Amino acid sequence: MTEVVSPTAAASGASATERFQERAKSSAASDAARLDAIATDALAALHEVIRKHQLTYDEYNAFKAWLIRVGEDGEWPLFLDVFIEHEVEKVANASREGTAGSIEGPYYVEGAPEFGAEGTLPMRDGEGGQPLRFFGQARSVSGEPLAGAVVDFWQADDDGLYSQFAPGIPEWNLRGRFTTDAEGNFSIHTIHPAPYQIPTDGATGALIAAAGWHAWRPAHLHIKVSAPGHQLITTQLYFDGGEHVGDDIATAVKDALILAPTAASSGAGEEVRYDFVLDPA
Ligand code: DHB
Ligand code: FE
Repeated sequence: MTEVVSPTAAASGASATERFQERAKSSAASDAARLDAIATDALAALHEVIRKHQLTYDEYNAFKAWLIRVGEDGEWPLFLDVFIEHEVEKVANASREGTAGSIEGPYYVEGAPEFGAEGTLPMRDGEGGQPLRFFGQARSVSGEPLAGAVVDFWQADDDGLYSQFAPGIPEWNLRGRFTTDAEGNFSIHTIHPAPYQIPTDGATGALIAAAGWHAWRPAHLHIKVSAPGHQLITTQLYFDGGEHVGDDIATAVKDALILAPTAASSGAGEEVRYDFVLDPA
């Protein structure tokens, strides 16, 4: 009998927490005045919510218990990236002229396998999902093609699951780094991912269910594009008409980031072009 391993919030949360802690080596410089201003305003905003809704002790204690559970489930990266990161991203990228950014989310892993300008992502035999060729060019805001730009790409599979965070998926499945050719072009052979559902068995899922919200992000591709002398852009691309494009739980969809694939000109499945425009550093 084959063992069926199903993903649990605690397992994917623990991996996401561990990955984040490994990567979060830099801590913001300790500017006491700025910290004072931010922490004071954040607490005042919460105090205002308490007054507005006349919070009871029962509700305060339920809130405390829930916060403790988010930590126990390792879900802080998931919770924060779904409900908070989108505003940080908008502030960080407000003055960009090039490609719009979107949230990074909790599932990026450094060091994915390298390909040249064109390649097929690591995938399993019979990997689910329509074949998808995703291609395009990296350019500067002044229109010059960027040769040697790195397109670091990751996505969920046809079950909405990410390698290294859900059990039983090969390590680098649907992750890869591509380097643009002399004309700035790249071409990635992959599959069309499925929408992603916040784990339902953890603290974040419990809040979503109790509040009567839905737990879905639309199908999406994750990309970081970088080139010497340019600002790295972290973004996501979505699919026109895809489920939850209009009501992403993570509020991370932008009109400029919606793709409309067409039938592939050769081979099976679909293809779509998207060009990345990088701002100067
Ligand atoms: C989350 C998952 C994602 O795939 C994503 O892109 C952003 C956030 C999350 O579960 O927090
Ligand atoms: Fe994602």
